[in-house]
Amino acid sequence: MAGLDRIKKKRTIGLDEIPCLCTPRNPAPRDICSSGRFFYPKIEPWRLYFFACQSKADLACLEGNWYLHMRLPGLIDPHVHLREPGATHKEDWASGTAAALAGGFTAVLAMPNTQPSITDRETFTQAAKAATFKARCDYAQYLGAGPENAARAAKLAPQAAGLKMYLDQTYGQLRLDDMVLWMAHFAAWPPHLPIVAHAESRTLAAVILLAALYDRSVHLAHVSRREEILLIRAAKEKGLKVTCEVAPHHLLLTNEDIPSLGTGRSQVRPHLASTGDQQALWDNLEVIDCFATDHAPHTLAEKDGSDPPPGYPGLETALPLLLNAVHAGRLSLEDLIARMHTNPRRIFHLPVQPDTWTEVDPEARWAIRAEHLFSRCGWTPFEGWQVRGKVLRVVLRGQEVYREGQILAEPGYGKNLRTEYASSRDIS
Ligand code: NCD
Ligand code: ZN
Ligand code: ZN
Repeated sequence: MAGLDRIKKKRTIGLDEIPCLCTPRNPAPRDICSSGRFFYPKIEPWRLYFFACQSKADLACLEGNWYLHMRLPGLIDPHVHLREPGATHKEDWASGTAAALAGGFTAVLAMPNTQPSITDRETFTQAAKAATFKARCDYAQYLGAGPENAARAAKLAPQAAGLKMYLDQTYGQLRLDDMVLWMAHFAAWPPHLPIVAHAESRTLAAVILLAALYDRSVHLAHVSRREEILLIRAAKEKGLKVTCEVAPHHLLLTNEDIPSLGTGRSQVRPHLASTGDQQALWDNLEVIDCFATDHAPHTLAEKDGSDPPPGYPGLETALPLLLNAVHAGRLSLEDLIARMHTNPRRIFHLPVQPDTWTEVDPEARWAIRAEHLFSRCGWTPFEGWQVRGKVLRVVLRGQEVYREGQILAEPGYGKNLRTEYASSRDIS
């Protein structure tokens, strides 16, 4: 891969002058060039992207070889677990946001199932304080829906990423079974601010009914089953205000991978599903609004222990895995940008991050290795996977914050997307 420090020349090009990318001195054979220009098939998956956004690519010359550096908008992950307060041996705001930057994300929305759970002003302030001092990328913090906090949580709504409702069993204490409690939250939470639900199978049908009854939006987290994506499709076709996200692990792993992953390490909620479920997600790509990592770090010792908690880390592997899927022709680059930037920004009413982008080498081939990850958890379910596409550099609000394996943003550089952006008030 092109080492940024060793780059001798760099120039920005437009679509009509994309040259052969192998070497300037030894262009690709004429029979694979188009209309006299040096056109190399390797560029094919990215051509539409240049068309669509009329973007430019940077070509970097290293030792006589040209490399394509592509700028993507700063990615937004609406679903991460940063484990602070309470379980900083798994992750904290500094390590989790370092992992975000290394994965090309410039904004993360942090879940409230910490210890204690984030359900009131005191715990919300506790998390916000840790974030102020430690976050390296921009962020917002969710509030958790508890049995008695509907009115108090709603008062904090403008400062929160959204309200998170845990409606099925998963990691942490925040489960709400009683639908009367769901109704209290749907009635109290401001109608224009996001509600996100962990709701599987029939629970998902029930929460969609509530969205319909209260005529408000609901965002469905980590959708994994055929019945779920088909139900969401039907709800959208009826005009209900339903959006959803899918995690890369549900797109790329199934229950057939459990033996090779091992029982503890394969534990995740929702469970890895069948190949039929997985295929249904790919078949209904247009129904999927966001790709969210559900970055849920637990240490290797915990995953391999006697009571393995559910969850996978995902911040550092999502973009390479999905760029790899672009290479494989499973989705387009515009599909990816819509789901990792444009749609999450719209659904969660996030402000524009000025002078912010993620630079990737879409051709770099490399193997995912836990030892290179910044997440504190020390493992990945994608260990050893060969991918094509690598994050080179991330710029956030004009500052270089990640460059080739090095985190350059200090803890505290990250801004709260709800309270520290001048425009954030206008947006909600
Ligand atoms: C998450 C966690 O560990 O916090 N685990 C998981 O398996 N996804 C909780 C959740 O997102 O449901
Ligand atoms: Zn969940
Ligand atoms: Zn989660």
